[in-house]
Amino acid sequence: MYASLKSIGAYAPERILNNFHLEEMVETSDEWIEKRTGIKERRIASEDESTSDLGVKAAEQAIERAGIAKEEIDLIICATLSPDYLCMPSTACVIAGKLGIHNVMAFDISAACSGFVYMLSMAKAFIESGMKKNILLIGAEKISSLVDYTDRGTCILFGDGAGAAIIGRTEDKNEAIVDIHASADGRYGELLMTPGCGSKYPCSQETLDNKLNFIKMQGNDVYKIAVKTLTNDVIDILEKNNVQVSDVDHFIPHQANLRIIEAVRTKLEFPLEKTVLTVAKYGNTSAASIPMAMNDAYEQGRIKKGDLMLLDTFGGGFTWASALVRFGGH
Ligand code: COA
Repeated sequence: MYASLKSIGAYAPERILNNFHLEEMVETSDEWIEKRTGIKERRIASEDESTSDLGVKAAEQAIERAGIAKEEIDLIICATLSPDYLCMPSTACVIAGKLGIHNVMAFDISAACSGFVYMLSMAKAFIESGMKKNILLIGAEKISSLVDYTDRGTCILFGDGAGAAIIGRTEDKNEAIVDIHASADGRYGELLMTPGCGSKYPCSQETLDNKLNFIKMQGNDVYKIAVKTLTNDVIDILEKNNVQVSDVDHFIPHQANLRIIEAVRTKLEFPLEKTVLTVAKYGNTSAASIPMAMNDAYEQGRIKKGDLMLLDTFGGGFTWASALVRFGGH
């Protein structure tokens, strides 16, 4: 018995924040942002939309496309760095409540932008051990709630959105998740973090005055480590599985910065037409980035049953992960 990615779904909020809007907010330009990041616009959730609301919309689509009843879901995992509530209840529990799925295990994971691939690896283990049958994975982010819109080093990069997938069982290896590598190195934590409002610097007027509740990033250091780590990690998973670049149908990287994607893609000599790119229109949506990109390619009719997808991602922690996944949906 193998684990299989049966369906994908996504949701992008309606409001668009483009580079010209940002020109009016911080000292930057459309030209600079596009040249350095490839981003043209990103979506921003409305005031009354929280991360769980975005997640619910993506989840409903994934459940419908999987052709299962919501009662068949026996585990819900949500990856997010912008949960509805800092401590409890988890966003997975909030989503379960809104979907009307009761009495099943539901929890969040914290792996920043690597969240989707991290939970894919957990889902694979739950399915292959026989513990669970149909798992709902949600990567959802209202990162705009964590962004300091006076900091031009970060506010140009991030956007809101959600993606979801159903992981089920299959006996057919040609529609199974092949392999997942997930890793972390805590020594780099301070290069990308939200320092405030946890137990280290509890929420206080001082924490807020010092803007410690917002994302802080040493962008250039993150950039260099991301390119090196992602390239090595992708080479490693391909070699370990004896997969050639030409065997891969779709390269679906984390959409943080077009230059990071291009560096990995050119090093691997991966064809542009097999690479899925959504960074221009969504920016970096962290844990939602890979499922949103996969959904885009799926809705364009590019992803067919049995196609081999290569996922790779990098994020705060630092965390990173790669996956080889055959699409098990239709
Ligand atoms: N508009 C205009 N100028 C800007 C700017 C902006 N939005 N942000 C930074 N700059 C300036 C800097 O102040 C600096 O000016 P200086 O040379 O006068 O000091 C100059 O541009 C270069 O800054 P640097 O940080 O070296 O630029 P960069 O080429 O590394 O690009 C990022 C900055 C943030 C776009 C890039 O480092 C990046 O994408 N890093 C990875 C971020 C990421 O992916 N994080 C999430 C990981 S999941």
